Amino acid sequence: MITNHTIETLMNRKSVRKYTDRKLSKDELEVIVRAGQQAAFASQLYSVLYSTEGPIAFHAPVWFVICVDAYKVERFMKLRGWDIVTNDLTLLLLGMQDAAYMAQNMIIAAESLGIGSCFLGAVSSSASRIKTLSERFELPNRVLPMVELVMGYPDEDFPTRPRYPLAFTLFENKYPELSDEEVKTAMKVMDDGYLEQEYYRKQNARIKAEDGRKDDYTFDNYSWTEHISRKWGQWVKSPNELLDTLKERGFSLFKDEE
Ligand SMILES: Cc1cc2nc3c(=O)[nH]c(=O)nc-3n(C[C@H](O)[C@H](O)[C@H](O)COP(=O)(O)O)c2cc1C
Repeated sequence: MITNHTIETLMNRKSVRKYTDRKLSKDELEVIVRAGQQAAFASQLYSVLYSTEGPIAFHAPVWFVICVDAYKVERFMKLRGWDIVTNDLTLLLLGMQDAAYMAQNMIIAAESLGIGSCFLGAVSSSASRIKTLSERFELPNRVLPMVELVMGYPDEDFPTRPRYPLAFTLFENKYPELSDEEVKTAMKVMDDGYLEQEYYRKQNARIKAEDGRKDDYTFDNYSWTEHISRKWGQWVKSPNELLDTLKERGFSLFKDEE
C-alpha cells in the first residue's frame, strides 16, 4: 500500500481509554483545535467547549464537547440584516458535518503529536446528556452538543482495531447486491479481528471493572457484530424525547404542518 507520514498517522490512530497524568499544554490544545478548524466546512457551524476539571472519562486530562452551532452565524447574519430562514433539519445536517470533520481533524492532529483520544457518543441517544452538557457549558439557543471527546497521553499501547474489508465499503458505479456470504465474510473479519487480540478482552474487562458495570460478557462469548446488534436491536426506540430536546435547543425537526 502507498504510504507516507500522514497515511501512517491515519492508519495508526485508535481510541485510547487509559491516559497518563501528563497534561496537554495550552499550545498543544490550541494547535489541535486550530488544525480542526482547517477542515472543510459548509458554514463553520460548530463550537468546541473544553474543560480540564474532573471527573473526566477514562481519567483523561482534557474533555471537549464538540457542538453544532447555528447561533454564531445567526448573530453575524443579524448584523447584516438577515434572519435564518433555512429549515432546521438542513442546518443540523450540515452543522453535524462541519462539526464532525473538524473533530476528526482534531483527533488526527492530536495523534500526530502522540496524543491519544476517544469520542463519547452518549449525547446522540440521551436527551438528559444533551441537557446536562447544555447547562454545564451554558450553551446558548441553537448550540447543540454533538459528541464528547477526551484526549491525553496514552498509558496503553495495542494494535489498531479491525475494519470491514475494502470490498464491503468501496463500491464502483453502483451499490452491489450483497449476498449473505459476503456479509458473513465481512462479519468474520470484524469478529475475528477483535477475538484475535487478547488485549481487547483484557481492556474490555478493565473498563467494565472501572465503570462498575455488572454484565459479564467478553469478546470470548460475545462478538463485535453481536455487540453492535444488541445496541441497535434494543436502544432508544422512540425519537420523541430527543426531538423534544432538540427543539428546546433551537432545532425544530417537525414537519411544517405539525
Ligand atoms: C460518534 C462516536 C461515539 C463513540 N462513543 C464512544 C463511547 O461512548 N465510549 C467509548 O469508549 N468509545 C466510543 N467511541 C469510540 C469507538 O468505540 C471507536 O472509535 C470504535 O470502536 C473503533 O475503534 P478505534 O477508534 O480504536 O479504531 C465512539 C466513536 C464515535 C465516532
